[in-house]
Amino acid sequence: MATERVLSTQSTSTDEPQNWALRPTRLSEYIGQAELLERLRIAIEAAKRRKEPLEHLLLHGPPGLGKTTLAHVLAQEMGTKVVLTSGPALARGTDLVASLTRLQTGDILFIDEVHRLPIAVEEFIYPAMEDFRIDVTLDGGLSARTVQVRCKPFTLVGATTRAGLLSAPLRSRFGIVHHLKYYSHDELLAILRRSAAMLEVPIPDPAALSTIAARSRGTPRIANRLLRRVRDYTTVRADGRLTAAVVDAALKLEGVDPLGLDDLDRGYLRCLGTTYNGGPVGLEALAATMNEDPGTLEDVVEPYVLQIGFLARTRRGRALTRAACEHLGLACTPQAEGLFDEPTV
Ligand code: ADE
Repeated sequence: MATERVLSTQSTSTDEPQNWALRPTRLSEYIGQAELLERLRIAIEAAKRRKEPLEHLLLHGPPGLGKTTLAHVLAQEMGTKVVLTSGPALARGTDLVASLTRLQTGDILFIDEVHRLPIAVEEFIYPAMEDFRIDVTLDGGLSARTVQVRCKPFTLVGATTRAGLLSAPLRSRFGIVHHLKYYSHDELLAILRRSAAMLEVPIPDPAALSTIAARSRGTPRIANRLLRRVRDYTTVRADGRLTAAVVDAALKLEGVDPLGLDDLDRGYLRCLGTTYNGGPVGLEALAATMNEDPGTLEDVVEPYVLQIGFLARTRRGRALTRAACEHLGLACTPQAEGLFDEPTV
């Protein structure tokens, strides 16, 4: 399955050590998400003045935009520590007991993919969020009894790419809810400048970083990953400096086109454009033709092609837009032409 790719928004074990080094650790270093940062500055200052922990925070938005980074930044700002876990890693409520009871006042419990918390764990977490109390059931059957264990006032930071899948009771228990947006070109450029300085890569040509920013799909994780690939390329194939020519050659080798699309994206669009004549077609059929997992296409490929207006999701399925047909050099199909007459879903 072609999920291991340079444009992936997923963090990978091989990518993490280098990526961590480039992440901001303080709010003052954080670039972009200006509204969120202002909300957080106020919440932090208020919590500190009242000597209380921060309120529970829910961050939602596409992967790679800085949800985990922000949890670490918040802990730094509050002078506390962060414990990381994820929805799928928690099968039973009791899986959380050890983490919750070890938290000190003001510590941050970060739960990634919080929409994938099993319902039993969700119900277990409610009293912990509200009253800093855990109800643990001892023994089973007739002799079952519940004991209450206290935990210290902590802050839950939940992260999700699918806010719509969160249950209403869980969502309502977060004091601050914020959607992370894709980064602008200028923000990505500023992030790349900071990263290039940290990596000590000479950039004689200002256009070089701009090209990387343009191909990063609004996502800092991708921008930093492309920068590292380009740095490798210039170290081995050029003189160690980042010029526009080096960036072009390196990104061409990675299969990343001027819009930031890679082989998987183009394969998806081409399959839709040729086999299905531009659609509309169901995701399952498309995935089967491509021999790909529908979830991968939905989470990894579609968000960006939707964002740049290459794809429309209609009641009858996925369909290419005229802009996509032009980009791919395909004859525009009648379906794509009349697409916007259809209600989208
Ligand atoms: N590196 C990755 N994301 C960043 C951000 N938002 N600001 C600064 N550096 C970053």
